[in-house]
Amino acid sequence: MRKNIVAGNWKMNKNLQEGLDFAGELQTVLNGKKINCDVVICTPFIHLALINKQKTGNTVKLGAQNCADKVSGAYTGEVSAAMVASTGAQYVILGHSERRAYYGETNAILKEKVKLALENNLIPIFCIGEVLEEREAGKQNQVVKTQIEEALFELSAEDFGKIVLAYEPVWAIGTGKTATPDQAQEMHAFIRQTLVAKYGEKIANDTSILYGGSANAKNAKELFSNPDVDGGLIGGASLTVEAFMPIIEAF
Ligand code: PGA
Repeated sequence: MRKNIVAGNWKMNKNLQEGLDFAGELQTVLNGKKINCDVVICTPFIHLALINKQKTGNTVKLGAQNCADKVSGAYTGEVSAAMVASTGAQYVILGHSERRAYYGETNAILKEKVKLALENNLIPIFCIGEVLEEREAGKQNQVVKTQIEEALFELSAEDFGKIVLAYEPVWAIGTGKTATPDQAQEMHAFIRQTLVAKYGEKIANDTSILYGGSANAKNAKELFSNPDVDGGLIGGASLTVEAFMPIIEAF
């Protein structure tokens, strides 16, 4: 069965000490609790190794927010999937809409990143989602389907089975405008149907599909109560333990 996952996406926030403090505090709070989902924090690269060293056990899992589309070599400023894996991180966000929009990441580039992440035993949290004009034109399903097809559908069933998807309508990210639980469920069900058609029922049913976009303590429970919403990718509300914990506890 698929996992429920709540993943924080810090984006470009927190210096090293702030990140270590947050991770320590989160682990302390979680240690005393019974938690019904996997908890992941996706930090800037610089935090990964030190948080991994500081943490005890696997209550809080670590992820990066990106990795290179090349194996190694003369690519100044890039960080490879192998380097991410060597920090102890288990996840990597790929295809976030901010990467697509501001850094020109295409489905073709993302296909390479996904391949390298999997080769290095990282679990991609692969983001998909439409912009407002696409939703207003009723094209959201086609947009999301194309993103999945172009970046992921050359994967073997075995490899696809390792991927986590995150549906993040771009109009909901950081805007305070969340998709309604019905809009989220409708899209997640559509995504799962798309997976059924390509990889069959078993893989489709075992794939965790997270929702992202202004998810918070107030709306998480209702969003997560949908049958096809298996957790959240949380930006703004993952930056303090007080804001993040109620989302984790929404399961
Ligand atoms: P948000 O970001 O929760 O701040 O909207 C979500 C994301 O971009 O992953």
